[in-house]
Amino acid sequence: MSNSFAGSTPDSLSPVAQDLTRFNTLGLVSRADAFVTLDVPAQLPALSALARQAPSLLVLGGGSNLVLPERVPGLVARVAFKGVRLLEAGPQAWLVEAAGGENWHGFVSECVAQGWDGLENLALIPGTVGAAPVQNIGAYGVELEERFHSLTAWDVRQARYVEMSAADCRFSYRDSAFKHDEPGRWIIVSVRFSLPRPWRPVLGYPDLQRHERLAGGAPSARDVFDAVCDIRRAKLPDPAVTGNAGSFFKNPIVPADQRDELAARFPGLVSYAQADGRYKLAAGWLIDQCGWKGQALGAAGVHDRQALVLVNRGGATAADIMGLARAVQDAVIERYGVRLEPEPVVV
Ligand code: EPU
Repeated sequence: MSNSFAGSTPDSLSPVAQDLTRFNTLGLVSRADAFVTLDVPAQLPALSALARQAPSLLVLGGGSNLVLPERVPGLVARVAFKGVRLLEAGPQAWLVEAAGGENWHGFVSECVAQGWDGLENLALIPGTVGAAPVQNIGAYGVELEERFHSLTAWDVRQARYVEMSAADCRFSYRDSAFKHDEPGRWIIVSVRFSLPRPWRPVLGYPDLQRHERLAGGAPSARDVFDAVCDIRRAKLPDPAVTGNAGSFFKNPIVPADQRDELAARFPGLVSYAQADGRYKLAAGWLIDQCGWKGQALGAAGVHDRQALVLVNRGGATAADIMGLARAVQDAVIERYGVRLEPEPVVV
């Protein structure tokens, strides 16, 4: 894979009007008045200059965690920086760096092919490398923060590069400092991952324990990668076919007494103990039990194999998706007294 971290020349940026429907995985009908693509980091000073004149800046990665309105005001910048490289093959860890615009799954595939193992549980998550720390992506027993080393971000406001450690990013479940700072402040230019050696598979998640590929003992990272891809393909809609943004809600975390009371009233309740004594509830189960799985409101639907995923049934707008989201939230509050919080960023 080519490397574009260095050696590019500064460039100017000329915003154009752009249809954003294919730039968001929900496929919501959306338009930007002023859109630029960032191909190389050398364009970042020009971006800061443009952003100073604009009422707002929206940063787009793969658009897999966004609910876009029909018209996005202000400036929209799509991050397309490319490059993957091994920085260090240490005795304790591989240190691998990827540019923010790299496709996440492509990067994970490349790591597995190179023998830089440790990201395979995160296979097939839609989106870019730069978006991954923003929501601290996680799946099948691994969260990004467990493999994160550091990142380089561009501070759009102050027009300078900043190096950030895991502590600076303030990761928690599907959350980071980037979700709380002013929107459009940061462009994630590159992310470094520390992949522990020797590699040990993470197989604790129930779906993995049940998977036939992993039943024989001593699986390779490639086996885990293939199993995760199988499981995701069976449950989750492919955004290239059916618009979706992955899980639309976070799994709610509740105090132990609330979980005990709910488990007494609803015996099948799915919950996971957290390190701090609280419990994470399976939002997909709550929605499913409310009867919303496979149901629709106009062009927006609840996926028929995983109720946590909302889908675009064709031509949906943000209003359609948010209308369905509210109906689902209301049903879950009414039955369980638990508030579901949307996971994607609603612009
Ligand atoms: N469940 C149902 N009905 C449903 C969906 C789920 O009963 O329609 C039950 C399942 O049977 C299971 C439990 O709920 O007992 C949990 O379901 P699942 O294993 O599918 O995982 P999840 O908690 O719904 C989370 C992540 C996913 C990630 C999977 C696997 C969040 C918000 N979602 O889903 O992440 O792939 O675990 O680790 O934490 C994403 O964030 O976009 C995403 C897809």
